[in-house]
Amino acid sequence: MDLVNTTENPPLRKGHNMSEKTKPSVTVIGLGPMGRATVKVLLDAGHPVTAWNRTRPKLDAIAELGARPADTVAEALAASDTILLSLIHYDAMYGVLEQGPADLTGKTIVNLSSDSPEQTRKGAAWVTARGGDFLTGAYMTQSDDLQHTASRLYVSGPEPLFDAHRDLLETLVPATHHLGEDHGLAQVYYQAALARFHAFLASFEQALAIVEASGADIDRFVAFATESPESDVDFMRYFAEAVKQGGWGDVANLEMMHAGAQHVIDTAEEVGVDADLTRAVQRYYRRALDASEQTGRPVPVYRIFRGETA
Ligand SMILES: NC(=O)c1ccc[n+]([C@@H]2O[C@H](COP(=O)([O-])OP(=O)(O)OC[C@H]3O[C@@H](n4cnc5c(N)ncnc54)[C@H](OP(=O)(O)O)[C@@H]3O)[C@@H](O)[C@H]2O)c1
Repeated sequence: MDLVNTTENPPLRKGHNMSEKTKPSVTVIGLGPMGRATVKVLLDAGHPVTAWNRTRPKLDAIAELGARPADTVAEALAASDTILLSLIHYDAMYGVLEQGPADLTGKTIVNLSSDSPEQTRKGAAWVTARGGDFLTGAYMTQSDDLQHTASRLYVSGPEPLFDAHRDLLETLVPATHHLGEDHGLAQVYYQAALARFHAFLASFEQALAIVEASGADIDRFVAFATESPESDVDFMRYFAEAVKQGGWGDVANLEMMHAGAQHVIDTAEEVGVDADLTRAVQRYYRRALDASEQTGRPVPVYRIFRGETA
């Protein structure tokens, strides 16, 4: 059932004009921070939105914004041809969609939840086996600010299907990228970006702990840390080029990095700051040095990540 121009529509939000009434209705399932952000952007753009969440309080809260709460998954699925899922992981999708009709013909499921590429491919196969169409969407966003200039939406799945939903997806995140037909691909890029982001955030918190525990000034440290962001960009480009040529590996530099990691460990421990993160990093340099010694050639750290031992 299309909710456009039916009496079941929520009242038009302030600022909407008549032409926006023709925008297709969208269903959003899962109302955590990202699901809520998704609903808000869609409502602001003039889409009628039907929403469903496993537990009721988040659903009631979203109704106050102007979305139509569905009492059942079946009702949520019936309300729109495009269903956006924003759940904690792919496993949650099965239990939710199984509450609706077994036949998903005519429905496009865009799963915006995070998971591994393989879990995502299985999820896509599960939906298509039930007659539905499937796109993977991975929010690489500035927290829940979908419209932030730094926010990206990585999408993978059939290109014609992406083209058919491009306007909607770009409404959510203006910088939306279709990365390829393989449903797992969006997760590859997203999880790789997260691998970097997690380590960056954890290491930055460690750095702040060292500064604070040493009695130094956090603002001054952050001013230094942020004054040359192009330095990080240079390293990323340099290492990426190096990996294409076999990787950055130089035994003297590996030794220097190993020794440098020890200095960070000593600095942290002198002021009672946990140094496990740097110990883990140091172990990669140790393994690269050991492998370099055994093979008689420099073994880059990335080769250790690729599983090279000797
Ligand atoms: N937060 C971010 O900054 C961010 C950024 C990019 C991507 N993501 C990804 O986007 C997805 C949503 O993230 P989020 O932060 O909004 O919320 P979340 O805490 O990861 O997920 C919350 C949603 O999942 C539902 N849920 C959890 N287990 C369920 C189950 N077994 N069956 C049915 N529903 C279940 C919750 O329902 P209840 O309310 O009933 O518990 C809620 O609607 C995640 O995959 C996350 O990794 C998050």
